[in-house]
Amino acid sequence: MQQQDQIDLVNQLFEFKENKTTELADNIYRQSKTDYISEEYAEREKAVLFRQFPLLICLSCEIPNSGDYVCDDFSGVPIIVVRTSKGEVAAYKNICRHRGARLACDRGEGLKQMRCPYHSWSYEADTGNLMTIPFNTGFEEVDKKNSGLLPLPVVEHDGMVFVRPTPGEPINPAEFLGGFAKDLKSYKVDGYHHFETRVLEAKVNWKMVMDTFLETYHLSTLHGKTIAPLLHNNLATFDDMGDHLRMVAARKSIDKLRGVPEQEWDLVLHTALVYVLFPNTLFIMQGDHLETWRVYPGATPNESRMHVSLYAPDPIDTESASRHWDNNMTLLMNTVKKEDFPLASNAQLDFAVCDKKLVFGRNEPALQHFHKRITAHVK
Ligand code: FES
Ligand SMILES: [Fe+2]
Repeated sequence: MQQQDQIDLVNQLFEFKENKTTELADNIYRQSKTDYISEEYAEREKAVLFRQFPLLICLSCEIPNSGDYVCDDFSGVPIIVVRTSKGEVAAYKNICRHRGARLACDRGEGLKQMRCPYHSWSYEADTGNLMTIPFNTGFEEVDKKNSGLLPLPVVEHDGMVFVRPTPGEPINPAEFLGGFAKDLKSYKVDGYHHFETRVLEAKVNWKMVMDTFLETYHLSTLHGKTIAPLLHNNLATFDDMGDHLRMVAARKSIDKLRGVPEQEWDLVLHTALVYVLFPNTLFIMQGDHLETWRVYPGATPNESRMHVSLYAPDPIDTESASRHWDNNMTLLMNTVKKEDFPLASNAQLDFAVCDKKLVFGRNEPALQHFHKRITAHVK
């Protein structure tokens, strides 16, 4: 981020703190609880948000070499992303054209050909082309040229890999990323290193998982012993980035910047920079590392599943580095699994019998923005 932008954001946070306030929306916003529990609404969300928008699948550092690949089926469309022999990224539906078996799972390396585990049809990883059909006599009428894996639009931009789960229109990263593109470039995530990705399941609507990150109003009450000692309560800036958003939450260490010349201020070290990459990704610069949450609907509107990933700026090649990042992951898991999720899953249950509308305060502008953008696209 440009130094002047960092200075402006820190000064904004200082001003809020002095005035005992935070960034405020113009009005209160009332959100229908139906959007968290309706099966019909959940289906519309899947059709719009999880088919038509580019979704973050991984960071470039997770597939650095030719033949490295990751699979992801959380959107409802099984996707495989592979680094080709030319060093580019390719994405396909991870579905065999014979009778629909998945070709690969999880992640791995050295993929040149994808051989189906069912009857051994094989496809070239670089192009998705169908290479061989065992006992071809049984399939002479199959046009091999038109029976390759279905390609999906994919783009790699400044260290991030996005895929749209619907074939067709290419992804224009500048258009899609909007105001986030400038911040992303400054973080240089193409030089980051993948520590770990965990899969979590929660008995809450996927938006409720996103919600827990989009205000700092709950920190001192819910997270008194975990993260509240590190972050100021109810103190954050908010920036509208079109469908995306940026919320900058102040760490308590920010107070140390008073008395330091502005040109030396480092915003990243003294804040948690929370971005929503619409629709379902949280990209969080956590001082000394990067965390991403890719949150998806589960089997019902009352369930969700997600990939939580931690990336470090330096290689993780010593035991002490691994221990350090493991401690970070443990703090994060303890916070969400023992504090946020139990509370949220009770609220999710109670949506059946609570007021029709939930109240998002003026001090929760990021939460308001996220839901307004969802509603604008899904309704
Ligand atoms: S389903 Fe893949 S080869 Fe038969
Ligand atoms: Fe929380």
